[in-house]
Order: sequence, then C-alpha cells, then structure tokens
Amino acid sequence: MDDGTRWDERYRDAPDPVPRPPDGLTGLVHLLPEEGRALDVACGLGAVTLWAAGRGLAVDALDVSAVAIRRLTARADALGLTGVHGRVADLAAGLPEHLSGPYDLVVCQRFRDPALHRSLPGLLAPDGVLVLTVLSDVGATAPSRFAAEAGELSRLARASGCEVLRDVERHGEATVVLRRPGPRSGSACGAVREDGRDGRKPAREGP
Ligand SMILES: C[S@@+](CC[C@H](N)C(=O)[O-])C[C@H]1O[C@@H](n2cnc3c(N)ncnc32)[C@H](O)[C@@H]1O
Repeated sequence: MDDGTRWDERYRDAPDPVPRPPDGLTGLVHLLPEEGRALDVACGLGAVTLWAAGRGLAVDALDVSAVAIRRLTARADALGLTGVHGRVADLAAGLPEHLSGPYDLVVCQRFRDPALHRSLPGLLAPDGVLVLTVLSDVGATAPSRFAAEAGELSRLARASGCEVLRDVERHGEATVVLRRPGPRSGSACGAVREDGRDGRKPAREGP
C-alpha cells in the first residue's frame, strides 16, 4: 500500500483537527509575525496550518493524503479562515517544483526525510523561522524506522547558516528551531532562550 492510501485510511475517520502551534515552538511563538507566509510540510489534518492561518499568515499546506487535504480545506472554510492553500503532494521526490518561497514560517512536524529537511532553510525569508520535529532514537522507549539518529537535526542546524533558537533531543523526539538572519534577529535573540543562556550561541539540550 502506498503512503497516500495508508494515510487516507487513517485520516478518513479521525476527529477534526484543533488549531495549535507547532509543539516545538513552545515559548517562542512571540517570534513569529502575524502576517506573511507559512509552509506546513506533511501537514496531516492541518492543526498547525489552521493555527497559523488564524494568526494571520497565508499558509501553503502539503501532504500526500488527499483525504487530509480535503478535510483541512473544509475545516478552514468552516472556521472562516482564508489564505489556506492545501495541496496533495508526494514529498518522496522532494518539494514540488512550483513551490515558491520565501516563507516567514516553515514547519515540518513528525515527517522525517533528511534530504527534504536540508532544503527547508533555503525557503526562509529574512527573520523567517523553521520548526523541525522528528521522532528520535535518543531516549526512545522502542526503536522506530522513522526515528532520526542522535545528532541528525543538530548537524542540519549547524550547516544551515541560521541562528539556532532551540536544539532539543530527548524522550524519543528531536526538535530544532532555526531563524534565518535578518533585520530583527540580532537584538531579539538574547531574549528567546528559556534556559538562561545567551541566545546568540547555539546550545544543545539533551537527556
Ligand atoms: C505523523 S503525521 C504528521 C502530521 C502533521 N505534521 C502533524 O504534526 O500532526 C505524518 C504525515 O506525513 C504525511 N506523509 C507521509 N508520507 C508522505 C509523502 N511521501 N509525501 C507527503 N506527505 C507524506 C502523512 O500523510 C502524514 O500526514
């Protein structure tokens, strides 16, 4: 069974999504603009997309599941949210060619594809924020073929040329939050750390 069919089956009878910010962005939401453009990669039923659209962003939402995209679009309409552009896309071959950044927010939550991940920082606008969360081998209670190996997202973060606002790897999950340098980043970054350290220095948080 292909990915689209498998996820279609899972989403057909799933409950409606409740808008919510990316899990990895807890405590950093104030960094995001209230207008501009967002990209939700492998959006599923679109809880993050709906949240971002409710915040005022125009959102491109991509997923291989036609059921998920159809339900997301219907939910956005029901909530009166404009600016949600859902598209069925198989990301196995990378991002769709017609996708045009730059984006003020890019989210890829619980969909792991290292090659795809490496292409995401390049879509960011100046001061744009990328939130990446994947299953991780670190602290996992059971192995998963979808889990990232230790340090995978940290290496991506260091190679991205972006400011690293968060780098966490524990309890079977890894998250990095990156910000492309821009006019606003310099003065704000010292204020975003939650651990008391200087936000200008990338810091690892681990088990
Ligand atoms: C664990 S879910 C995460 C959904 C959403 N990002 C969230 O955090 O709730 C993984 C998502 O990846 C999508 N997916 C799986 N394979 C895909 C592919 N080849 N191309 C695009 N999306 C895919 C699935 O349809 C599913 O929505």
